[in-house]
Amino acid sequence: MSKDAYTLTGPDGKSTTLPVHKGTLGPDVIDIGKLYKEQGVFTFDPGYVATGSCKSDITFIDGDEGVLLYRGIPIEQLAQNSNFIEVAYLLLYGELPNKPQLDAFDTSIRTHTMLNEGMLRFFNGFRYDAHPMAMLSAVVGSMSAYYHDTMDVNDPGTHDIFTHRILAKLPTIAAAAHKLTAGQPFVYPRNDLNYTENLLHMFFAVPAETYQINKIAAQALDLLFILHADHEQNCSTSTVRMAGSSGANPYSAIAAGIAALWGPAHGGANEAVLRMLEEIGDARNIPKFVARAKDKSDSFRLMGFGHRVYKNFDPRATIIREMCHKVLAQMGRTDTPMFDLALALEEIALKDEYFIEKNLYPNVDFYSGIIYKALGIPTSMFTVMFAIGRTVGWVAHWREMITDPALRISRPRQLYTGPVQRNYVHLNKR
Ligand code: SDX
Repeated sequence: MSKDAYTLTGPDGKSTTLPVHKGTLGPDVIDIGKLYKEQGVFTFDPGYVATGSCKSDITFIDGDEGVLLYRGIPIEQLAQNSNFIEVAYLLLYGELPNKPQLDAFDTSIRTHTMLNEGMLRFFNGFRYDAHPMAMLSAVVGSMSAYYHDTMDVNDPGTHDIFTHRILAKLPTIAAAAHKLTAGQPFVYPRNDLNYTENLLHMFFAVPAETYQINKIAAQALDLLFILHADHEQNCSTSTVRMAGSSGANPYSAIAAGIAALWGPAHGGANEAVLRMLEEIGDARNIPKFVARAKDKSDSFRLMGFGHRVYKNFDPRATIIREMCHKVLAQMGRTDTPMFDLALALEEIALKDEYFIEKNLYPNVDFYSGIIYKALGIPTSMFTVMFAIGRTVGWVAHWREMITDPALRISRPRQLYTGPVQRNYVHLNKR
């Protein structure tokens, strides 16, 4: 039985009634807006484990049931029937597009893939061993130095061109970063190719020979981008909302999201999973690493396991695991030691009391790197691939936030545990 309000009574006997808001799905929320004014206290929720930061119509997750809906449509149905550009439209505009809408959206994305030549010159300044996420966040942030026509966040007439530009240019910027680290010449985008074919072309084509698009790889990437497109108020999306709430330009808000995604606890986990599997090396070593993950004195964690919300299987991991089998088989890859090791690790971990007790299941990052590796994408580029898929989710949330009439700047409070007030001591007295 849900309640319409909760009453909190302070030590002085004064009561405050806190209203409850109900969503269409998921837990109700208690509105604490008047708590501090009436009771003189803040709430305290480090890591925002049980705190709703906003209302949103975009994505719903049920962590216990392993449910993920994009604008109400189950991820499994979108993975089965849709493609990334169509899913991007759904997340941005709330409905699946009809044919004319889809064609217009696809054409606009295809015709905005080129970078300003000045932006390309940034890449000459990076060291050959610069991490691609460092280049991605820098060059995406630099878009605010070029596209002055989309800096007024309160002009909704500019939101579409911003959206189409950044969705279209992310793969081009990613490919330029890859080419720099590979020591190969930059490859310009082609408007005759679809989103993932173009990305493969820019990644792998070289002037010395004609590049043949691998259709299986293009389809695999398309599905991975669908699965990574959005995920409610995760760390990087919340960062985009936080940065955007000050009225900062949208390119800078997205660059902030890229920075947050880079962390190994978040999007950086897919790169960390591959490095962990390389370190484990052989299934015989798995028990030793599982023991380390359980040892509180050891900071090691099984990367790709656990999730703040999913206390059951991450539905995306299930889809990607099945996809691994198919893609590796379709690509004729029989040498799949990394995949076999991942399967063995998953089997052992899921039988371990510690992982069962703490509901630690494989998440979206556990298998994705194996597919990226099979497609020839370098490990250091894995989180960049996550960013390409997630950009549409970041943009959808930015648009929802910036057009919300109730928008206020995000500014949390704290529990202060520092020194009480004291006087300055001059240097000669210290
Ligand atoms: C993503 O939020 C999202 O939606 C993110 C994401 C998205 O699409 O945007 O789904 C993408 O970021 C997936 C997560 C990728 N990260 C990893 O795979 C890194 C490894 N996992 C963890 O570091 C951890 O599980 C998190 C960060 C994912 C979740 O952290 P929480 O919710 O803060 O949980 P916690 O760190 O408090 O862990 C709870 C317990 C702890 O033990 P106790 O202190 O209770 O004894 O579980 C343990 C942790 O030590 N634990 C792990 C573990 N993850 C949690 N122990 C070993 N190995 C792990 N991977």
